[in-house]
Amino acid sequence: MGERPYILLSCGMSIDGYLDGVTDQRLLLSNDADFDRVDGVRAESDAILVGAETVRRDNPRLLIRSEARRAERVARGLSPSPMKVTVTAEARLNPCAQFFAAGDSEKLVYCASDTFDEARRRLGTVATVIDGGQPVDLHRMAYDLYERGVNRLMVEGGGTMHTQFLTADLADELHLVLAPFFVGDSRARRFVSDGDFPFNPERRATLAEVRQIDDVVLLRYALSPRFGEGR
Ligand SMILES: NC(=O)c1ccc[n+]([C@@H]2O[C@H](COP(=O)([O-])OP(=O)(O)OC[C@H]3O[C@@H](n4cnc5c(N)ncnc54)[C@H](OP(=O)(O)O)[C@@H]3O)[C@@H](O)[C@H]2O)c1
Repeated sequence: MGERPYILLSCGMSIDGYLDGVTDQRLLLSNDADFDRVDGVRAESDAILVGAETVRRDNPRLLIRSEARRAERVARGLSPSPMKVTVTAEARLNPCAQFFAAGDSEKLVYCASDTFDEARRRLGTVATVIDGGQPVDLHRMAYDLYERGVNRLMVEGGGTMHTQFLTADLADELHLVLAPFFVGDSRARRFVSDGDFPFNPERRATLAEVRQIDDVVLLRYALSPRFGEGR
């Protein structure tokens, strides 16, 4: 097995542990100061990954907002915004989505083997489509990303992606932002699904930092001996 990138998971959630609401309207969990912090973490990353459902539901641009941070990346010989990565089994992604249309950075789609041809037909002009296995194997994807020059990977959700990175023991750092309200509807997407997590009552994760950012709180967890590497 080769090396893999340093992997940082990042998400905002309600007090009752939800990543989103149940309406079509996007739920804002962070505040302006925290969005700016996230922008800084993105700028330090080589790639940002979101699951296909987040691409469909949130239509995120995943670009660096701060002009100063974009300029600083360019001065380091990098693209203004990091590479974008998504994962899909069904390949039901719109090539006009902001994920593909916004910004000039490279876009990668890891798709399940049995939809690879379909994914390449639909998305081949707007992204590099990669056969990731059946279903996409996260270890294989992580090693492939490293081979493509990704040393720091930021995973921004949704819950299906966070669950898999955590249960595969493929996360070095977790940023959890707690918003000061409840969603109160179990139809909403939780931070993680059921799974066999490497941290449990017998093996507690290390709480590395607690930071108040206006009305939200950032909890930073160290999940591997690599925590803090490269910063
Ligand atoms: N609060 C936050 O910080 C935050 C951040 C991001 C997202 N969100 C929210 O999270 C929700 C989406 O989360 P989610 O858990 O439903 O979806 P998700 O994690 O964004 O994406 C899940 C999808 O990714 C693909 N996928 C995942 N693992 C795969 C594998 N191993 N092999 C092949 N394909 C795989 C599948 O795509 P296909 O269906 O295409 O096959 C699957 O349906 C949205 O409501 C969004 O608003 C919140």
